[in-house]
Amino acid sequence: MPLFPVLTGTTPAGESFCLARLRREDLPPLVQAFQNLELTTYLGGNGFTYSEAEEAEWLEDNLKNPAGQVLFGIYDQTQTLIGSVALREINHRTGTAELGVAIYSPANWGRGFGSGAVLLICQYGAFHLSLYNIMLKVFAFNERAIRAYQKIGFREIGRRTGAAMLGQERFDEVYMELLTTGLDVSELRRQIQQLG
Ligand SMILES: CC(C)(COP(=O)(O)OP(=O)(O)OC[C@H]1O[C@@H](n2cnc3c(N)ncnc32)[C@H](O)[C@@H]1OP(=O)(O)O)[C@@H](O)C(=O)NCCC(=O)NCCS
Repeated sequence: MPLFPVLTGTTPAGESFCLARLRREDLPPLVQAFQNLELTTYLGGNGFTYSEAEEAEWLEDNLKNPAGQVLFGIYDQTQTLIGSVALREINHRTGTAELGVAIYSPANWGRGFGSGAVLLICQYGAFHLSLYNIMLKVFAFNERAIRAYQKIGFREIGRRTGAAMLGQERFDEVYMELLTTGLDVSELRRQIQQLG
């Protein structure tokens, strides 16, 4: 199936990427990604890897757009799946949601894809879902992620002391939030006006 980009962005280095709905053929890169213990550790699955069957079940669930969640694949300019980004626990009455993101290959970390994708989905959440407050949880040892979130405007709002373990050491779980009132949604507004 061809890829149908929903939102597009560009990294500071000028590499374009897009957010699009996942497809069944995305299963092999997903399975490959979730054999990496470093990736699964950052995502809270210390020591876990995920089999093809587990990933297939996860993918099937997400193809059906589960209630209270929006998940997009992140694709580079060659239309290769390089990650995913999601708003979960969406509460339309309060305008709140939780963010999750992963760039799958360490070779693609630190290249601007993660912060770019997070910014796009937060703008989408503000404009299309009327979200007011987006929060996330991140382990204190994940300094790259914290830096990426800070760049977009997330700020720390608290910590759960020692709630993460890595290599027999305890680390805090950091809570961060972004208020969407400061986000520029003019590009999304322009896209809608083109339809009218
Ligand atoms: C977290 C993640 C989404 C961030 O995306 P990314 O594309 O790597 O991040 P970006 O390139 O947009 O920004 C990273 C920033 O951290 C900096 N950085 C890179 N490595 C770093 C490190 N080891 N320590 C501190 N900062 C670091 C970069 O220089 C950059 O900041 P700058 O633009 O001011 O120079 C991505 O790294 C990832 O998916 N990691 C594995 C899974 C994960 O941690 N998910 C989040 C769980 S909460």
